[in-house]
Amino acid sequence: MLAIDEILSRYDPSTGALDGKPAVRRHLADLRGCFADVRAYESALERGNPLVYSVAAVEPARGEGDLGYGIGLIVPGKVGREYHMTKGHLHAWRPAAEFYFGLSGEGVMLLEDEATGASRMVRLRPHEAVYVPGHTAHRTMNVGAVPLTYLGVYPARAGHDYGAIAERNFRGLVVESGGQPTLVDRASFIP
Ligand SMILES: [Fe+2]
Repeated sequence: MLAIDEILSRYDPSTGALDGKPAVRRHLADLRGCFADVRAYESALERGNPLVYSVAAVEPARGEGDLGYGIGLIVPGKVGREYHMTKGHLHAWRPAAEFYFGLSGEGVMLLEDEATGASRMVRLRPHEAVYVPGHTAHRTMNVGAVPLTYLGVYPARAGHDYGAIAERNFRGLVVESGGQPTLVDRASFIP
């Protein structure tokens, strides 16, 4: 008889660790430059430096055909009218697509085509999947009142390029308007 003895991964929601690997934890101070409302950001930092999100990833050998995956957790909260967000990234190997699957909470993703700069906002909720095509910058936000958790699956060789985003940021911005997440143009946003 075969025993069930292989657990490939175990996620610990209290710490964000995946497969025993500690999560990378990003606090408010790590997100300088992400929020468009600089005044709201600086005044939030004066009040403290809370955890904004954590992400833990399992990346196998990066062989041809391998998949990597990670689980992200974004703490609910806002800075001004902007929701807690991830730094966002492009994949170092640009053609690499990614599949996101909502596990708990209520989120949105900002997807931005690198070539055209076209932005769109898509919902990320439990039992719903988001397909992030290659060559697309992606950032995730918690727009609800409880922690948002999600699973991301991508080619193991995708890699992460945070530098391109840190340099020029996203063109789109998701802000609360009338109680709803709303996509606006970052350049013309007036807090
Ligand atoms: Fe990604």
